[in-house]
Amino acid sequence: MAQPGFVVWFTGLSGAGKSTLAEALAPVLRERGVPVEILDGDEVRTNLSKGLGFSKEDRDTNILRIGYVAKLLARNGVGVITAAISPYADIRNQVRAQVPNFIEVHVDCSIDELTRRDVKGLYAKALRGEIANFTGVSDPYEAPEHPEVRVNSESQTEAESLADILATLEQRGLVPAAARA
Ligand code: ADX
Repeated sequence: MAQPGFVVWFTGLSGAGKSTLAEALAPVLRERGVPVEILDGDEVRTNLSKGLGFSKEDRDTNILRIGYVAKLLARNGVGVITAAISPYADIRNQVRAQVPNFIEVHVDCSIDELTRRDVKGLYAKALRGEIANFTGVSDPYEAPEHPEVRVNSESQTEAESLADILATLEQRGLVPAAARA
């Protein structure tokens, strides 16, 4: 039988490492014969969700759109990787209910560490009160209580986080184990 599709749904604060892990996971899955598509929050917001802002309503619309496309792809055997903050648990669970083989991956990282990294300079601005509704600073982030995988970009290396995600995908029969050398 053909390999089943699935969705690796990364969730976590801006700068936690969702996109980095998504980009690192994709080639590993492709090497194992899985067709892969990445739906990255920043990129989706330049096309599919252009014009949406960061109110709860707009974020929910953004997440439901990503979930809808992910569903279409996954049911055709694609391994979909999404990387949007997706701060609200109710909408993540709504997507979970619609998507086959939904693997929620929480990329955890403290605000202190994110403020230190501040790759885009957004935390400094948000902490100065210059960005309203900034997730984790002036807007909520509802961490998943029971994600399929929880990784931590502060205490784990990228390779360790990837290994945890791959182990879960293998255990569930969604990805074939790596061939032994
Ligand atoms: S989501 O909440 O709808 O899932 P998404 O992942 O698409 O968010 O977009 C988050 C990115 O938008 C952040 O990485 C950051 O670069 C940018 N951004 C701009 N304003 C905000 C804000 N108020 N809160 C969070 N991220 C913001």
